[in-house]
Amino acid sequence: MLIRVPKGTQDILPEDISKWYYIEDIIKEILNKYGYKEIRTPFFEYTDLFVRGIGESTDIVTKEMFTFPDRKGRSLTLRPEGTAPVVRAYLENSMGRISKVIKLFYIGPMFRCEKPQAGRFRQFNQFGIEIIGTKSPAADAEVIITALDVYKKLGLKNLEILINSVGCKKCRFDYIQKLKKYLKDKKELLCSDCKMRYEKNPLRVFDCKKDGCQKIIEKAPLITENLCQECESHFAQVKSYLDDQKIVFHEDPRLVRGFDYYTKTAFEIISGELGAQNAIAGGGRYDDLVEELGGKPTPAVGFAAGIERMIIAIDQQKVKWPEEKGLDIFVAKVDEKNKDSAFKLLQKIRNAGLSADMDYSEGSLKSQMRIANKLRVRYTVIVGEEELSKNMVILRNMQTKEQKEIKIDNIINEL
Ligand code: HAM
Repeated sequence: MLIRVPKGTQDILPEDISKWYYIEDIIKEILNKYGYKEIRTPFFEYTDLFVRGIGESTDIVTKEMFTFPDRKGRSLTLRPEGTAPVVRAYLENSMGRISKVIKLFYIGPMFRCEKPQAGRFRQFNQFGIEIIGTKSPAADAEVIITALDVYKKLGLKNLEILINSVGCKKCRFDYIQKLKKYLKDKKELLCSDCKMRYEKNPLRVFDCKKDGCQKIIEKAPLITENLCQECESHFAQVKSYLDDQKIVFHEDPRLVRGFDYYTKTAFEIISGELGAQNAIAGGGRYDDLVEELGGKPTPAVGFAAGIERMIIAIDQQKVKWPEEKGLDIFVAKVDEKNKDSAFKLLQKIRNAGLSADMDYSEGSLKSQMRIANKLRVRYTVIVGEEELSKNMVILRNMQTKEQKEIKIDNIINEL
């Protein structure tokens, strides 16, 4: 029986890889423009990093992590997200000493054991950015603007920005008491998960997808109506920076996002092209995470975006992908007798810096030409007995179909 890819994962096949290169190049181009430096952290971390970082009562930690013991029994987890690992690396490498503000980006696979559906995978790719070391609301605005800049360059339209403030430790503590009070006599009507959330972190009830819980939460007091002066002013400044840039956004006072680390700004960018899994990016400020993971109090803000969802949205919009670049040269042999000379020439062309290939099977010249066409090469060099005796080969322009004999020694210059 054929062994298939694990549920929720997929191969990225050669015919699709140019889409990935294209998107990754644009991401890197824009992020370099904004002054971010790439960081690559391991694909797995000690489980504790995510439990402490993301929060015990979140769906990710309670249900979605791929966790396994190493040979010594230490618990490891495939990274479900990039923020906690980046903060761990920031602390472990004392990056705060290099510069007060550090701007990092990452691109790579994340792993969540969710129920797979269109646009939702168990292994998916994110690109994300983190600005560590500033509490400025301009940084919150910058991360949103950066995401939009990437989407603009990719031609993605039909996007909506949802924004909220989830307050800070101080105002959230008072708010949670109010929320608990509101939920207290409705507790029995909540789903079993939300009963647990009520005890551990009632803010998570906003995250519940169940209709019953959504109905209950509809009339709950809102965090935005209970912000402290500092959080309120921060939120107002973020919105004003966005207004200045003519960025249209919608305030969603129920947006809490599925991580406990958020403070103040939380946002999501949704795409009208994506169906149920419509979040194309999400992020926010996390001013307490560095301290929670053992560092000095250090404010930070960032976001991450799903690359598969970007590809789906681009395909939906029928935006044209750039044409894949073909090889420069194909070396064809008239006869099997010429294969060694053809191979030598092939290497000479490659060593000169051009991309080139040949067919090692015993195909006819016609079949080799078919391969050359498939590879969309610019020129084919035909190696035949008669020309070789004169130290020459035939050069065929695959577009104009023109052919001419040229000296082997001149071939690199000619190409
Ligand atoms: P997140 O909202 O969990 O945030 O993920 C960001 C994006 O990753 C989502 O908007 C979505 O496009 C994509 N994504 C998430 N789960 C899946 C999945 N199962 N399949 C396909 N795509 C998915 C974070 O991960 C935070 N670390 C963002 C952040 C960075 N906050 C501050 N800094």
